Amino acid sequence: MTSSFPLARTEVEDLQAYSAPLEGRRGLLRLDFNENTVGPSPKVLEALRAIPADHIAIYPEYDGLREAVVANLCAPRADGTPALAHPLSPDQIGLFNGVDAAIHAIFHAYGDSWQTLLTTSPTFGYYSPCARMQGMVIEAIPYDGPAFAFPLKAIRKVLLDEPHPRLLLICNPNNPTGTRLAPEVILELAAAAPLTLVVVDELYEAFTGDSVLPKADFTATPNLVVLRSLAKTAGLAGLRIGFAIGAAPVVERISRVTGPYDINSFAVTAALAALADQPYTDAYVAEVLRARDWLVAQLRSAGVRHHAAGGNYLLIWPANPAVEVGRRLREAGILVRSMAGKPLIDGSLRVSIGTSEQMQRFWEAYQAADLSATP
Ligand SMILES: Cc1ncc(COP(=O)(O)O)c(C=O)c1O
Repeated sequence: MTSSFPLARTEVEDLQAYSAPLEGRRGLLRLDFNENTVGPSPKVLEALRAIPADHIAIYPEYDGLREAVVANLCAPRADGTPALAHPLSPDQIGLFNGVDAAIHAIFHAYGDSWQTLLTTSPTFGYYSPCARMQGMVIEAIPYDGPAFAFPLKAIRKVLLDEPHPRLLLICNPNNPTGTRLAPEVILELAAAAPLTLVVVDELYEAFTGDSVLPKADFTATPNLVVLRSLAKTAGLAGLRIGFAIGAAPVVERISRVTGPYDINSFAVTAALAALADQPYTDAYVAEVLRARDWLVAQLRSAGVRHHAAGGNYLLIWPANPAVEVGRRLREAGILVRSMAGKPLIDGSLRVSIGTSEQMQRFWEAYQAADLSATP
């Protein structure tokens, strides 16, 4: 049968678009995308308001942003000790239109038909479509047991067996299970598999402090790439800005497959202001961690099945059907994310953590939506 329109590449014809329920969320308490729930630093807003009209009329300029990322990552700790054992240089920082765009570019630059993506399951939903659009084979190893432990033995086996996977994607802490993996283990995996590009998605690292960066040596381990974003902690999700950090020749190759102006001027201005106001981000992260401890204590004392590990999110298994509880929460003005259909966690809700006040509001609504309702 012939079609009335031009067909795309075979891999694209077989692909389902990555879709997330992103519409109609304004005005609600959004605990469904792990975003910052209070917005960026006032200094970011000030910088955006000060953008002159001609900066909108001309193409963006990126000078100084890579340097600012380096300065932010290399800033010495409170006790004066260096943050990184091997300091970074600006050519080790790739700029992308969100970490999503960095992930897409990595697959585009490094993933070829019939090569293997090794990753875990369940994990962040954008890795698989990126692998599929390249025609890659996906080997997704399930997390282990009721605590969703990292399946290290199985990952190591596939990684070291021939043919070696082309890409290993580790989300640390993992979205949505929160699973944490010690940075030393990741560095050891990367060193043991020089033919595999080992990508560590550290989007939620600020909530655990488990980064590989303090000890990473990209000269000795040039097959390691680290992803960081200002979306979830600094509150810039709407502006789209993310970073890929690695050996300069690898970062340069990943950047080859993006357009010259993929990051817009607003994102650049906002990123510079956000990076310069690290105390704002640190205070937000500390508040989220306080709110998470409080919510976990409520869930525990009410006997609600839940799983909280790394990240600004946790999983809850309601007594009533999750879809119904999600619908009742929405009626109360609160959005959470259903994990329906996800391996190992089907039937759970992923709840993003915001401020203590927001979690108190969530907890009241949750009790009405599930605990006081008959299953
Ligand atoms: C694990 C993980 N990686 C990457 C992304 C995308 O981040 P960004 O908003 O920077 O594109 C997300 C967003 O939810 C995520 O959860």
